[in-house]
Amino acid sequence: MTTVPSDTQNALRDGIIELTFGEPDPALLAVGLVRQAAADVLDDAGPAALAYGSPAGPAALRQEIARRIAAREERACTAADVLVSGGNSQALGQALTVLTAPGDAVLVESPTYNLALGIMRDHAVEIVGVPLDEEGLQLGALQAALAELRTAGKRARLLYTIPTFHNPAGVSLSAKRRQELLEIAAEHGLVIVEDDVYRELVYEGQAPPAIWALEGEAPVVRLGSFSKTLAPGLRVGWINASGSLLERLAASGVLESGGCVSQFAASVVGRLLASGGYDEHVAVLRRVYAARRDALAAALREHLPAGCTFALPAGGFFIWLGLPPGLLATGLLPVAEARGVAFAPGARFCSDADDRSLRLAFSLYDEQTLQEGARRLGAAVTAAQAGRA
Ligand SMILES: Cc1ncc(COP(=O)(O)O)c(C=O)c1O
Repeated sequence: MTTVPSDTQNALRDGIIELTFGEPDPALLAVGLVRQAAADVLDDAGPAALAYGSPAGPAALRQEIARRIAAREERACTAADVLVSGGNSQALGQALTVLTAPGDAVLVESPTYNLALGIMRDHAVEIVGVPLDEEGLQLGALQAALAELRTAGKRARLLYTIPTFHNPAGVSLSAKRRQELLEIAAEHGLVIVEDDVYRELVYEGQAPPAIWALEGEAPVVRLGSFSKTLAPGLRVGWINASGSLLERLAASGVLESGGCVSQFAASVVGRLLASGGYDEHVAVLRRVYAARRDALAAALREHLPAGCTFALPAGGFFIWLGLPPGLLATGLLPVAEARGVAFAPGARFCSDADDRSLRLAFSLYDEQTLQEGARRLGAAVTAAQAGRA
């Protein structure tokens, strides 16, 4: 059974299978690789490893990230195109600080990553949700939202999107829509902030090309992170953006004062990538998480009553489950918790998000526990439908 120590972000409750949290299984965190890389960094650099870093982050990590991108994605990349971040949460906050002014509208998918909404609320921006479907963000609805904002005399500066293995919806933006989105953004002077946190966790074929890799006239800021592959506690990620935009992001007061936001951990990740064990580690994660996804999906098919719907995600951590007519996820949650399983109701993922759906994370537990979670959920949905809650 998975255990999460009590001083971590998400405490597990006794007797409840928590399909709520989109975090890696602690048993799969790269303890050995991190231990070795940290020792190597300290042995080699001594006290210099613990000094203030340069604002852009350790050159060795930036080079390793650029090398990986150039080898895997359809866009040339050098260390100059990489700014080290403290993970996508910090990077999103930084993008909002630098790229928005109070009163600006920020467009998001509805549903979107719920904790990104909190980061936006730290800034005086107006959050505007745009619906998505099985091909990702609906571009007709995006254009309608832009037109409405313009009519109201408001400015939309930024679109925050998770186009690849979406949290919570599991979908990816289609290739056609990626191109069209770039055109719409160029026309409206919109910066696209692409949260690419799940790119490495692909279970079928290849991940779609990043919008950043297709970048045309519209500016794109791509946020990458090692949280889901190595360890969220490292707080290491990066930002890709072209020339002047990256310079604007790098010229923040916080970076000028403190240097790289995660200097030591970033040096450790740089060493870890150079040592060559990372690809093997990610290959293991893909195998394990794909098997968990399949186990949960099969058990949901077995235990859920008719009227529940979901699609198998090709990557990431989540199954987005539609409930039968008449049920709302927020109302179902206490019924499910009483039967020993929890999930994230749809209403959490945007102020106007659809509460007829809910998010199930398959990252935290082994296959057997996921199967038991699906059985308990099936019993809860059946009971709620029959009014036997
Ligand atoms: C879409 C998305 N973005 C960002 C994060 C957090 O990323 P980081 O740990 O790099 O701050 C998560 C974690 O759940 C996420 O799902």
